[in-house]
Amino acid sequence: MNYPKDDPTLVTCALPYANGKAHLGHLRTYIPGDVLARSLRKLGQETTFVCGSDMHGTPIVVNAEEQGREPEDLALEYHEYFEETFPRIDVEFDSYGHTDQPSNINRTQEIVRALEDNGHIYEDTMKVAYDPESGRTLPDRYVEGTCPYCGNEEARGDECDECGRHLEPGEIEDPVSKVSGAPAEYREQRHRFFALSEFEDYLRDFVDDLEGTSNARNQPKQWIEEGLQDWCITRDLDWGVPYPDDEDLVLYVWVDAPIEYIASTEEWAADSGEPDAWERYWRDDSSDIVHVIGGDIIQHHTVFWPALLHGAGYSAPDAVLASGLVKVNDRAFSTSKGRAVWLDDDYLDEGLDTDFIRYYIVSYTGFENDLNFSWSLFQERVNNELVDIYGNFVYRSLLLSHDNYDGLPDGSLSPEVESEIESAVERFRDAVDDLEVKEVAEAGMALAGYGNEYIQQREPWRLVDSDPGEAAEVLYDCLQIAKATALLLEPVMPSSAERVWRQLGEGDVHEADVEDATQPLSGEPREPEHLFRQVEDSEIERLESRLQERVGEGDAADESEGETEDDETGEDEAEFMSGETISFDEFQELDIRVAEILEAEEIEGADDLLKLEVDVGDEERQVVAGVKQFYSTDDLVGRRVVVLANMKPSEIFGVESQAMLLAAGDEADLLTTVGDSEPGTRIR
Ligand code: MSP
Ligand code: ZN
Repeated sequence: MNYPKDDPTLVTCALPYANGKAHLGHLRTYIPGDVLARSLRKLGQETTFVCGSDMHGTPIVVNAEEQGREPEDLALEYHEYFEETFPRIDVEFDSYGHTDQPSNINRTQEIVRALEDNGHIYEDTMKVAYDPESGRTLPDRYVEGTCPYCGNEEARGDECDECGRHLEPGEIEDPVSKVSGAPAEYREQRHRFFALSEFEDYLRDFVDDLEGTSNARNQPKQWIEEGLQDWCITRDLDWGVPYPDDEDLVLYVWVDAPIEYIASTEEWAADSGEPDAWERYWRDDSSDIVHVIGGDIIQHHTVFWPALLHGAGYSAPDAVLASGLVKVNDRAFSTSKGRAVWLDDDYLDEGLDTDFIRYYIVSYTGFENDLNFSWSLFQERVNNELVDIYGNFVYRSLLLSHDNYDGLPDGSLSPEVESEIESAVERFRDAVDDLEVKEVAEAGMALAGYGNEYIQQREPWRLVDSDPGEAAEVLYDCLQIAKATALLLEPVMPSSAERVWRQLGEGDVHEADVEDATQPLSGEPREPEHLFRQVEDSEIERLESRLQERVGEGDAADESEGETEDDETGEDEAEFMSGETISFDEFQELDIRVAEILEAEEIEGADDLLKLEVDVGDEERQVVAGVKQFYSTDDLVGRRVVVLANMKPSEIFGVESQAMLLAAGDEADLLTTVGDSEPGTRIR
């Protein structure tokens, strides 16, 4: 892309299901989406940024049923929650609606009618799962079974977590009712179908031209090559958008959900007093539509959605940015198993700065890659990069200026610094043209790093006495770098950028354009405050042990409940060995061995953890274990224990753990053998 363009750009984020609270997995969509919208505006690109809550679908109905509530009531509660929560992390949509609003219901029905008029919808019978025990049909998440594509035995209703496929009703093999737990039967029912198979040629071209991440092109290409099936777009449910002129059926949630992108744009247009302005995006091909989504919903956005739009006479997306998944401590993110980081409880309520998580998420890795969250790496990146470099540089520059000059130091921008800022601005521009949010963060942070080196080399604190004129020149440069850095980092870290500009006495950083980076300073630097506070070891330890505890409880719950419970948000991801039983071969993959503890020592600042050196037969390993509360280091040395030796190494509290000590129960009752098997003996 080449911004700014004459025509406006629409940025959307996938709609959150109004069925649970926000967590780190969600943030991987919303933060980069917001960063992109802000970055475009920094280049002077006219941009509209919309989203809304996804109110329909069976996970919400199932959840409401379990709580004895109406789906509408539950969904509205979470809709309000999301609406209030996004601004707390500085994700600022121009319009945030929901899919059960009249604007979306009307637009959805209008699109379905247009598809009917254009001959893309037909009626037919199909097999749907039916529960003979409760006497009801089982749409989508009401049924579980085996995926016909990859054999995953835990495919859920309309999707398979394992291979990422959408599953049509009737496709799941060996269906089991989620209502009664009994095997489900298949029965014939009349439904409406969208003739997706007629769109193969259109979609092939669409995908070829699609911009954004490569996964959003490659995955649909493969699906299209395998041949597309027509798509059942109705469900036998009470909750959803009614099928036009057929009150017995509602539309499948994936029909009305993306249409909220349009409805939300309409709401924005109406609110801004130009009710037709939405058509610039959705009826006119010259403007851009960019969807920001997670990698689990590529098929919906690059196959079903563009075909629906094209079939009904609307403009299709120009770019789809699909993120890699978020993992926690190297394992699949899972709210039901406790392996999740919650935005409210684990982050905002802990008083952590919004900009920290925004920076971490955006700069951690390329958008398409998986993001493996760990509290210790979070702390490391925040303290080393934001606090020590960006924060420290800005604070020193402002403090020296404030303490030594009455107002702005009397200097001007040196050519060297000016060209450094200009190249950072160029890098920023290229990053936005490539829709690369990580590169946006890097352009700003590289300039902060340059500033930090510049102030260290030029040592203005020495010059203020020996050569005050030169000191003023150097400090002027530093303040200009600080101004430009904050400006370039505003999309990623809007709150701290605002603080920097306020302390510099400059104008509104949110309104400013990248061109302002080299504009002369005009304000009076104030007495500065530190930009960020350090993330302390004690906080990280608390958060990490809370996470570990939750994961422990989740695992225990899995064992007792055989893992059949759905998770709260209905978007649990596939996990290594998630089945109820495992094969012998799978068991053989676990390298469980006898080991001997050679050394044990405390880890500074950690209340629960000990660092152990263990002999696992052929080598020694370092193990971090949460046993400090129950054993003294002397108790442990010399003991024979049992470890999982092929556990993927992980860093716990900054210390690498290369195996896992096995223990039972809440008090870490250590496992050992009855006889005297030597260290290294495999357990089978
Ligand atoms: N409601 C659908 C999207 C409809 S769009 C027309 C949905 N909702 S969701 O609440 O499950 O997810 C919202 C966004 O968060 C999606 O982009 C999804 O991909 C993303 N993520 C939720 N959990 C995730 C991870 N663990 N990792 C990365 N992103 C995931 O999907
Ligand atoms: Zn599958």
